[in-house]
Amino acid sequence: MSKTATLEIDGNRYEFPIIEGTENELGIDIKALRGVTNGVTTIDPGYKNTGSCESAITFLDGEKGILRYRGYSIEELAEKADFLEVAYLLIFGELPTAVQLEKFDKDIKEESHVDEDMKKILDGFPKSAHPMGVLSSLTSALIAFNPGSVDVDSEEEMYNAIVKILAKFPVLAAWTMRKRKSLPLDYGDSSLGYVENLHKMMFARPNKTYEPNKLVYDALDKLLILHADHEQNCSTSTVRIVGSSHAGLFASLSAGISALWGPLHGGANQAVIEMLEAIKADGGDTAKYINKAKDKNDPFRLMGFGHRVYKNFDPRAKIIKKSAEEVLGDLGIEDPVLDIAKGLSSVALEDEYFVQRKLYPNVDFYSGIIYRALGIPTEMFTVMFALGRLPGWIAQWREMRLRKEPIGRPRQIYIGENHRTFKTVSER
Ligand code: CMC
Repeated sequence: MSKTATLEIDGNRYEFPIIEGTENELGIDIKALRGVTNGVTTIDPGYKNTGSCESAITFLDGEKGILRYRGYSIEELAEKADFLEVAYLLIFGELPTAVQLEKFDKDIKEESHVDEDMKKILDGFPKSAHPMGVLSSLTSALIAFNPGSVDVDSEEEMYNAIVKILAKFPVLAAWTMRKRKSLPLDYGDSSLGYVENLHKMMFARPNKTYEPNKLVYDALDKLLILHADHEQNCSTSTVRIVGSSHAGLFASLSAGISALWGPLHGGANQAVIEMLEAIKADGGDTAKYINKAKDKNDPFRLMGFGHRVYKNFDPRAKIIKKSAEEVLGDLGIEDPVLDIAKGLSSVALEDEYFVQRKLYPNVDFYSGIIYRALGIPTEMFTVMFALGRLPGWIAQWREMRLRKEPIGRPRQIYIGENHRTFKTVSER
């Protein structure tokens, strides 16, 4: 028998159906709430208890530390898949066959040209501009060069738009970094794989032979996979809600990039390294910073710690920590910041404040250490996150449009002034 929930308001009882997900999650379906109760709404700041949609893309269980894309565990995907396969899986629902993967790769390569005039737009930004602001603007500017909205009922149009952005986004990200370094902008090398090409576009120097490095490619591939989707987080919800107004894919993604930028979300990876550097410069006293994080009168938070959903451990952080140690070891890099990170995390994991609040290292705690080892500048870290998250945003946008979801439009409870009569300036 299907489950229901009963709500009682002023002696009136209302029944609502309960929806059950494939992993037995329960959600009270309150679609009829305002209608049957004559306008009663719910209040849930930060949507801590609100499911905004039904989705078949990513499953995560914050208590058990489980993360799966389309049913496949993140651990297995990080070990066995490559980023393009994962992108295909997230967007289209199944792992690609060899033929599908080859076509996907070829189609992306075909679209990897970015209009030369985009360089003029990039030129308008000061070198000091934060790469996330530049990337969001360039993604939005792409619309001008690729006008026309996507007919979501046309599989072909949808596919073409997806392939276009997957192709052009790494070019924009690489250009954003190169502009800061006054390096010439180019279009990469279509003979290379997606991640290899991204790396070459970022790091090739006009006066040096580019040296491929499998170890670096593998580390990058893994990081991108680990960031590829995370269900209804802040940036993904932004992409879905912007897209729900039938704004185009690129416009929705541009908004998602802006949402990701914040230090409580993707921007945390930059904030973590800056925090670790500050602790190092301050003599490496981790206890002092743990105490600052616990002090309610101090705005300092332990960046890279805590998560809205994970209340046990973040499985991505576990993989990244191991990977950070391997990458640094393989590249022969000794980074004192890794020791500070480990020290900080072991103290916090034993500390009552963090234990009670179930605060654990999240995906951003160790990722910056790997990016740094790979020579990626700190202010580019969140761009790397965006590159990884791109297929997830696309998959969620596509799902939202295919399910014909209504425009996102939350309600509120008004707490302002009641009706007042206007007074002219002389009467005030
Ligand atoms: N350092 C110190 N205290 C913390 C921290 C932290 N990093 N995170 C949470 N708390 C405390 C918070 O003060 C509160 O304490 P109390 O109950 O005494 O008021 C309690 O833990 C619950 O915190 P919250 O802010 O209500 O939890 P939330 O689910 O709204 O926030 C979060 C989750 C990720 C925004 C938060 O943990 C945080 O700000 N972490 C640091 C930033 C960070 O690393 N963000 C990356 C998140 S993972 C990747 C991503 O989303 O992009």
